[in-house]
Amino acid sequence: MVARVEASERDAFALRGTLVTPLADGGTLFAEDGLVVVGRDGAIRYAGPTRGARHRGPIEDLRPALLTPGFVDVHTHFPQTRIIGCATGPLLDWLEGSVFPEEARFTRAAYAREVASEFTARLIAAGTTTVALFSSSSPRATDIAVQALDEAGLRAVVGLTWMDQNCPKALRISTDDAIAASRRALARWHGRNGGRLRFAVTPRFAISCSRPMLEAAGALAREHELLVQTHVAENEREGVATLEVHPYASSYLDVYARAGLLGPRTVLAHAIHLGARDWRQLADTGTTIAHCPDSNFFLGSGRMRLAPPTRLGVPVGLGSDVAAGRSFSLRRAMASAYDNALALGAPASPEALLRLATLGGATVLGCAQETGSLEAGKDADLVVVPRPRPARTLDAALAGLVFDTDAIEVSASYVRGRRIR
Ligand code: GUN
Ligand code: FE
Repeated sequence: MVARVEASERDAFALRGTLVTPLADGGTLFAEDGLVVVGRDGAIRYAGPTRGARHRGPIEDLRPALLTPGFVDVHTHFPQTRIIGCATGPLLDWLEGSVFPEEARFTRAAYAREVASEFTARLIAAGTTTVALFSSSSPRATDIAVQALDEAGLRAVVGLTWMDQNCPKALRISTDDAIAASRRALARWHGRNGGRLRFAVTPRFAISCSRPMLEAAGALAREHELLVQTHVAENEREGVATLEVHPYASSYLDVYARAGLLGPRTVLAHAIHLGARDWRQLADTGTTIAHCPDSNFFLGSGRMRLAPPTRLGVPVGLGSDVAAGRSFSLRRAMASAYDNALALGAPASPEALLRLATLGGATVLGCAQETGSLEAGKDADLVVVPRPRPARTLDAALAGLVFDTDAIEVSASYVRGRRIR
């Protein structure tokens, strides 16, 4: 009897490698010879130095590879997978010339299915285990993306992209239809698999949404306590056009504030052209930010400063923002964030960037209890990053992880202890 109890409680598996993880209480844990022990429930039993770990059972020795939390991509666009690198920017020209024609293809289910499997494969190869994404305005394509994400084993926040103006007819969805489709998605898959899949209310951005649509989005999000994701202050011309479309508002941010769209469950992408009052408003409402530096470089949108959110305690995560971002890899996004910070004369440490790409993102998406760091009690969402030789110090490990990215793919990936790569 006793033996059987022990057997059922035996740890499912353990991985040995060089451990690098941010910690919820601050700081970074580095263990050159580290161990992550995962229970049968997919939760981490232990993460720390191998010496001193109490673990019975087999250990997979992956040294000199790194063990690090799966990356949390807080902002990307599933239907833009095939248009990476279309250099037709700046923003509004790129949307019209490259993005809208491609997103219109997603009314064809077969096309959506093909791209959905490319999308999930590329996320997983890049080491992303949690992703918040915009789909197109097609409810069917959105369901198809969800199915692919579910089958791939990823943790995902998925939004049907709402837009009812200033875009091609084929992409328009009325407020009533957007609400109805969103309610169907809520009933069908929101919260599925213990919350591994969640629905997010996703008005594309202020220009492409009427005021009633934005207000309806705010009301739906409040009713069901849903995440909201949209774009803000990405491009100067966009900012001017926003106030022409919404002349009642006193600022870009005010458009969203008036629609009840600001708050701790809202993720705003870019946040480049904001003033001190805007940042104060974000802090006061608890609104969170998706920093998308590679996208900002590619479209020439400008540079987001990390100083205001850091000073005010506004949560920030990192977004690949494919296809304005040129890579699915948050390692590349970290390197771009480094360049961005340097160009602003306010360098960011690789340690801080790793936090943005993992625990910071999990905080933004409201799942920091479950994912974002390798700590006992959390779900085992982790990646194995190959290395040619041991990393003896935290700096060496971060150099490889953040900057030495010619070989960009992870060799293994786990979500809740289940191997997905
Ligand atoms: N603003 C509105 N839509 C988009 C989009 O698809 N990508 C980016 N980068 N900005 C946007
Ligand atoms: Fe975007």
